[in-house]
Amino acid sequence: MSENTTLEKRGNFTGKIGFVLAAAGSAVGLGNIWRFPYLAAEYGGGIFLLVYIILAVTFGFALMAAEILIGRKTGLSAIGAFKALDKRFSFVGVLAAIVPAIILPYYCVIGGWVAKYIAVFATGKAQAAADGGDYFTNFISGTAEPIGWFFLFLALTAVVVLLGVEKGVERVSKIMMPLLVVMIIGITVYVFCQPGALAGLKYYLVPDFSHFKATTVLAAMGQLFYSMSLAMGIMITYGSYMKKDVNVESSVHNIEIFDTGIAFLAGLMIVPAVTASGGDMSKGPGLMFVALPKVFDGMFGGTVIGLVFFILVFFAAITSSISLMETVVSIVKDKFKLSRTVSCIIVLAICLLLGIPSALSNGGILSGIKIIGYGFLDFFDFISNSVLMPIVALITCIFVGYVLKPKALIAEAEECGNKFKAKRLFTVVIKYIAPICIVLILGFSVLEAMGVITV
Ligand code: PHE
Repeated sequence: MSENTTLEKRGNFTGKIGFVLAAAGSAVGLGNIWRFPYLAAEYGGGIFLLVYIILAVTFGFALMAAEILIGRKTGLSAIGAFKALDKRFSFVGVLAAIVPAIILPYYCVIGGWVAKYIAVFATGKAQAAADGGDYFTNFISGTAEPIGWFFLFLALTAVVVLLGVEKGVERVSKIMMPLLVVMIIGITVYVFCQPGALAGLKYYLVPDFSHFKATTVLAAMGQLFYSMSLAMGIMITYGSYMKKDVNVESSVHNIEIFDTGIAFLAGLMIVPAVTASGGDMSKGPGLMFVALPKVFDGMFGGTVIGLVFFILVFFAAITSSISLMETVVSIVKDKFKLSRTVSCIIVLAICLLLGIPSALSNGGILSGIKIIGYGFLDFFDFISNSVLMPIVALITCIFVGYVLKPKALIAEAEECGNKFKAKRLFTVVIKYIAPICIVLILGFSVLEAMGVITV
């Protein structure tokens, strides 16, 4: 079954709830549980959280609404939609299409790490993994293991996409997602009761303005796009299957609250867990894999709890990787007029080409190779989140603000019969705030990265 039929049925069948759940299924993933907490820890805790929330209710809202409305207005996915609205902007669709192709391979590497941790807890090695970091470092700096787990995660994603059994996976994940939330809350409560957790809680919730840097905003902005699946054409595709009578504004609010809420909770669990377990905040991508096993180790029934936790995270991750792969496959299929199977094989080849170096770049045999100072995985993460997505978002804003005009999208939003309440916010953010901020943030961050200024 193609993505289109899945979405079409979904849209026609359940209206708003179906749409929100589908979009949330794509949005909630490793971005919320793995990426958000480690960035929050790295970029100053409370200040990162504050910047993120401000960006989510302004940029996040306006951009997500714009993308969904562009999709609904044209009934087309990114490349076709921009082309149909204005030929000069076709390149934005193409640029947006490159983003998921860069993210998918390394997403599957991290998905593989989650799969490995399911195995760790299932085979009674939980204690070994609770050593504060060496176990994880040894694992990711190996060769066969990171590659093997990456293959497994990629293969599972590909099988679902090839066989078209997304519906089944979604049905399961509708049960798994609420369970994951309950579990995160439970673990958070446990963490709070541990000595040392309070320092982490304070670090996470109380903004310390001395930690503020231009890169904090860039990191928060990139994370926002990543987490809400923005600036990569995905929401345009989702919007293209949305019926005219569905209220876009309130749907966007729902998705936004859902996505940000889960990220917030994940941070609330992991950041205090770091201080409670005596770890350090700068563990980067490994934070979740280092801090949580230590917490589970001290818990009654911790092995089972850890096992269930990683299984639930795995489900959140696989629904997102399926959505990523679906997107890339349908782009390849439409662009090059190929069959679905051939398109899938091409996408698999891209994943192997970019994913294998990513899997081996975290202390492994390819760690020595740096691209502008980053190893492969970090480079793909940086180039997609901090460069391409802000650029796509910037051009989208300019396009909507000055070529298509916000009025056109507001009228599209009001097709459902309800007024678009946040019209002014939408217009001001799209026309002025977002473009100016994105240019400033990108500019400052480049200068900062080059060492020209320190902010
Ligand atoms: N938003 C997903 C996450 O937070 C990642 C993703 C991006 C999934 C784009 C699909 C499309 O993990």
